[in-house]
Amino acid sequence: MMLRKSIFTLLVLSSTAMSHAAASFDPATVLRQLTDEEKVALLVGVSSNGCNASGDVGRLEKNAMGAAGATHAVPRLGVPSIILADGPAGLRINPTRKGENRTYYCTGFPVGIHLASTFNPQVVRKVGAAMGNEVLEYGVDVLLAPGVNIQRNPLCGRNFEYYSEDPVAAGLTAAAFIEGVQSQGVGTSLKHFAVNSQEVNRLANDAIVSERALHEIYLRNFEIAVRKAGPWTIMTSYNYINGTHATECKWMLEDLLRGQWGFEGAVMTDWGGGYRMASAVAAGNDMIQPGADKYYNEILDALHDGTLSRQDLDRSVLRVLELVARSPKARGYVPGNNPDMASHAQVALEAAQEGIVLLKRNALPLASSGKIALFAVGSYDFIAGGTGSGDVHRPYVVNLQDGLKKAGFSMDEGVDAFYSEYMKEERSRTDVINKSLPWYVPHERALEACPAGVIKASAQTSSAAIVTFSRISGEGKDRIEGMDFELDGREIQLLKTVSEEFHACGKKVVVVLNICGAVQTASWRDMADDILVCWLPGQEGGTAVADVVSGRVNPSGRLPISFPMKYTDDPSSSDFPQIIPDKPFNYSHYRNFRDGRIRRDIKDIDYTEYKEDIFVGYRYYVTRDVEVAYPFGYGQSYTTFAWDGFSVKKSDDGAFVAKIKVTNTGECSGKDVVQLYVKAPSSSLEMPARELKGYAKTPLLAPGESAEMEIDVPEEYIAYYDPQRHGWITPKGKYTFIAARDAVTIVRKCTVCM
Ligand code: BGC
Repeated sequence: MMLRKSIFTLLVLSSTAMSHAAASFDPATVLRQLTDEEKVALLVGVSSNGCNASGDVGRLEKNAMGAAGATHAVPRLGVPSIILADGPAGLRINPTRKGENRTYYCTGFPVGIHLASTFNPQVVRKVGAAMGNEVLEYGVDVLLAPGVNIQRNPLCGRNFEYYSEDPVAAGLTAAAFIEGVQSQGVGTSLKHFAVNSQEVNRLANDAIVSERALHEIYLRNFEIAVRKAGPWTIMTSYNYINGTHATECKWMLEDLLRGQWGFEGAVMTDWGGGYRMASAVAAGNDMIQPGADKYYNEILDALHDGTLSRQDLDRSVLRVLELVARSPKARGYVPGNNPDMASHAQVALEAAQEGIVLLKRNALPLASSGKIALFAVGSYDFIAGGTGSGDVHRPYVVNLQDGLKKAGFSMDEGVDAFYSEYMKEERSRTDVINKSLPWYVPHERALEACPAGVIKASAQTSSAAIVTFSRISGEGKDRIEGMDFELDGREIQLLKTVSEEFHACGKKVVVVLNICGAVQTASWRDMADDILVCWLPGQEGGTAVADVVSGRVNPSGRLPISFPMKYTDDPSSSDFPQIIPDKPFNYSHYRNFRDGRIRRDIKDIDYTEYKEDIFVGYRYYVTRDVEVAYPFGYGQSYTTFAWDGFSVKKSDDGAFVAKIKVTNTGECSGKDVVQLYVKAPSSSLEMPARELKGYAKTPLLAPGESAEMEIDVPEEYIAYYDPQRHGWITPKGKYTFIAARDAVTIVRKCTVCM
C-alpha cells in the first residue's frame, strides 16, 4: 500500500510549473510510455478535500482557485494537470486567494431554466461564449456544465439548473450552450447522464423507468446535445437506472453514447458518485472524480488481479489523455486572469431580459415617471441563482429596488422606509441575505408583512404596487410542496391587502416571481393585474425586470415547463419524495449506505417508479386534457403577432422544413416564438396529443414588420421508440405539424404523409 501511495505522489507535478512548461504531447505515444501506476493515476482525479493522501502540490493550486477538481499530471511525459470547475450559471471558483490583493469574481448569468426560457439559441450561445471566456481566462480547462436533465417533477431541487420538461427544448438549449462555451477552446461536461430527477437519496436512488420513456424522454435530450455540439466530456449521474448504477452502465456509456451517438470524449463520474470504480472504468466511465487513494488502489488492484482488463484500462486512459491534449493547458495557453467582466455583464443582462416570461398582463408596462410601492423582502434582496455547485461567486446582484431606481422610477417613501429598516434588522439577525447557503435558505425571507397602515397610505400616493415572491432551491435537497410550491399564508395575506388597497384607489398590482421552479399561481392570480416570472436571473436580474416593467424591453420569454393548477395534478406527484414540511433537515432521507447495494425498502427514496412513463409535463396535460395554470411554452408580449402561410416540406437530407410568416401587428417592437409540435399517426402504443420538435424566435420586429421563420426538424426527431423492437420507428401515415404559441394554443396545422 505504501509503495502504491508513494508512486502516486511522484506522478503529481505542480500545476503552476506546468502552466509555464505546458507542452503539447501525442496521446497515443504517451499511452505507450506510461507505467501502470501512471495510467491508473490518470483515471483518478486530484482530491479537492485532502482525502487524497498523496500530499501533492498540484492540489494546492486547484484549492486556491476553488475549482471542483483536476486531473493528475505526468510530468516526465509533458502531460499537464487540467482543472475542472462548475457550473451552469457561471464559472465557480473562489473570488479571493490567500495572499493576493485582488478578486476573481465570475459573471453570474441567469440559471438554466432561465436560459431555456429565452427559446433563443443565439442568446444561449452568447452566454456560453462569455462563460467559456472566463473559463479560459481564469485558467480552467473544463466547465462542469450544462445540466440537461428532464424536469420530471416541479419539486426537484436542481430543476433551476436544468432546462425543461421537454427533451427537445432541453437538448437544443444544451447544444447552444456547449457550442458557445467550446467556441473559446475550453471543454464542457454534459451532465448528469442520466435520469437524474430527484435529490432525495441522490447517491443511491434507483430510477425505474420504462425502455420507451428512457429513450424518448430521458436520453433524447442528451442525444441531441451530443450529436449537435460534441461536448468534450460527459458526467455520469449519482443514481441507478433500472438497477444498474449510471457509472457502471456499459450499455449506456459504450453502446449508446459512443457506439450510436458518436461521442468521442471522456466520461467522468459525478463528485463521489458510484461504488465500484473498477467496474465503472470497465463500463466506459473513464475518470473517477474527485480522486482518493482508495479509488486509485481499487483500480490498480483490479488491473493486477485481472478483473479490469488492460484493454479497458488503456481505452479509458487514452480518452483522458486526448481530453488533456485539447485543453488550454496542454496548448500552452497562459490565462490573463482579466476577462472582460463589463461586456459579460451585458450578455448576462441580455439573457436575463430575454428569458423573462409575462404570465398575465393588465397594467404593464408602467410609466417610468411613476412612484412604485415595492413590497416583500425579495424585492430588496433578489435571488440571482440557486445553491450548491451551480452557484457562482458573482461580483454583485442588482435587486429590483436598485433596478427600478436606475430605470427612473421613484420609490414610495413609507414602504421604502419600512423595508430599509426591516432589511437592516434582518441582515444583522441572520447571515443568509445575499449569501448562498449550500443546503437551506429560510423561507421567511421571501415575504414580510408590511403594516396595513403603510400599505394603505402607499396606495394613495404611489402609482402602482410591485410584490416579489421568491423561492430558492439547490443541490442535495428537493423542494417541499407546502413551502416551496405553494405560497405561504402570509404571502397571500400581503398580496390580498396590497391588492385590496391599491385596487380601491384604482391602482395596479404587479407580482414578480423570482423563483427556481413552478409555483402554485391558480389560487391567487386574480389578485394581481400582472405577473412576471424572472426565475433566478443572475447578477443583472433587477435591471432586467425593471427594463420589462418600464417597457424598455418587451418580454419574449416562454415557459419551458408547465405550471400545474395544483401540485397533485403533476403526473409524477404520487411517485416523488414527499418531504415532511416541519422536518426540512431530516437527513434520514439520505440513505447513502456507501456499499453500492440497492435497497428496495422505501418507495421514492430507495427507488422511484416513473409510472407516468413518457407522459411527463405537457405530454400528460394535453393528452389527458388536464387544465393547467399556464401551459408549457406560454408567455405574453406587449405587442401582438399574426402568423400566416404555414408550410412543411421535406428537404433533400430528409429533414422537415417548416416555414411561417410572423408579422408584428401591435404598437411596439417585440419578438415572438413559433413552436412546432407534431402529432404522430396513431399506433398500438399510446401517443401524446403532440410533442415539441423545434422552435424559432423572431428578431426584434418593429410594428408592421414581418419575418419569414424557418424551423428544421431532423427526421429522427419524428421517430418514436418501440419497446417491442427495441428501436426507433417512423411508421407510415399522416403526421400533423402544428404551429403553436404554446402546448395548448394551436395557430396553424399542416399534414404531411409519410
Ligand atoms: C454535483 C455536480 C458538480 C460536482 C462538482 C456534484 O455534487 O452533482 O453537478 O459538477 O459536484 O462540483
